[in-house]
Amino acid sequence: MHDPAALRSLHLARFQAEPAIFVAPGRVNLIGEHTDYAEGFVMPAAIDFATLAAISPRSDGKIVLYSENYQEERSFDASALPAKASKHWTDYPMGVVAILTGEGHKIPGFSLSLWGDVPLGSGLSSSAALEVATSLAVLSLIGASYPGPVLARLCQRVENEFVGANCGIMDQFISVNGEENHALLLDCRDLSFKLAPIPADVALVIANTMVKHSIAGGDYPTRRRESEAACAVINSHRGNVPFLRDATLEDLEKWGHEMEPKSLMRARHVISENLRTVAAEKALEKGDLAEVGRLMAEAHRSYSKDFEGSCAEADAMVELAQDIPGLIGARLTGGGFGGCTINLVERSQAKAFAEELGKRYTAKFGIAPQIHVCHASGGAHRVA
Ligand code: GLA
Repeated sequence: MHDPAALRSLHLARFQAEPAIFVAPGRVNLIGEHTDYAEGFVMPAAIDFATLAAISPRSDGKIVLYSENYQEERSFDASALPAKASKHWTDYPMGVVAILTGEGHKIPGFSLSLWGDVPLGSGLSSSAALEVATSLAVLSLIGASYPGPVLARLCQRVENEFVGANCGIMDQFISVNGEENHALLLDCRDLSFKLAPIPADVALVIANTMVKHSIAGGDYPTRRRESEAACAVINSHRGNVPFLRDATLEDLEKWGHEMEPKSLMRARHVISENLRTVAAEKALEKGDLAEVGRLMAEAHRSYSKDFEGSCAEADAMVELAQDIPGLIGARLTGGGFGGCTINLVERSQAKAFAEELGKRYTAKFGIAPQIHVCHASGGAHRVA
């Protein structure tokens, strides 16, 4: 999988300079969807798909970026940075440079080689992995560093302010702060978190519907606006509800009739999802896997029916998994409208489970899904 030595050779051959190399993982979210920008709770784990970034300084004042995935090199002038995004993969690394420059850092010229195996557009946070790997690389070049949560915020700003995707903090946070064999219950209000151990006999089986997902596109921001409109109605009545994190299901009973029907549904998902996420962590802690599975099933129903964030393929992937031996819980993970499902599966059954799910999905849709048996990995760090 990740091969820092191969990236080093490639960088040396292209740029004739010894690089420092950093890795940043993608993530899967066990539960807590569309709650992060409502300052609520999420419970992601970093996974063993990742982006590697190799960096070395240059003396000609240029920033030269090479992507092994896209087999493409682009060059920029370090003293004349692009002011805005150009809908190209270079937006992510150049967004990092722009945000760090805005923080008062003077970024000199450098060569950066990138390689990653987080499947693109599959809801596993390939973009967060790219931002985090790049920012660690660039910070090392200038001898600077930030505490993990601050670095995650800076990378989120790359998305929000440069790329133009209005995402929350979850993906960048877990890519920076993931812990081997653990999920992390993150409070997106103050970024405090609790490690939630994933039992050794439980596997994370990630099933890709092969339907592309995008958060820059229309649906993600529309859902976000709809849920925020519901929050504004509640806030107008009782104040102190700046985010849906602060709202309750009783609020919806009282004032739901004043909301657009879609807003009410979105808010019902977000408020109930926060409750489920906190409950799932407690159940995991107690070793009550049946309860974790039940909460995941409820979370999927809510994501699909109230948030309308799923699609036929993802609903089917969850449905088809239900009676395969070993399943603990299944739901659509990530930003939605396609992408992957996360299946918690008894480890001893994981391989057979993945094969059977793949067969069933192929028979139904005529598309072979990619199914990966993953493990919860550690967060971003220097590898060479
Ligand atoms: C995407 C965003 C996250 C989060 C999820 C939905 O992954 O980047 O911030 O909002 O969708 O839970």
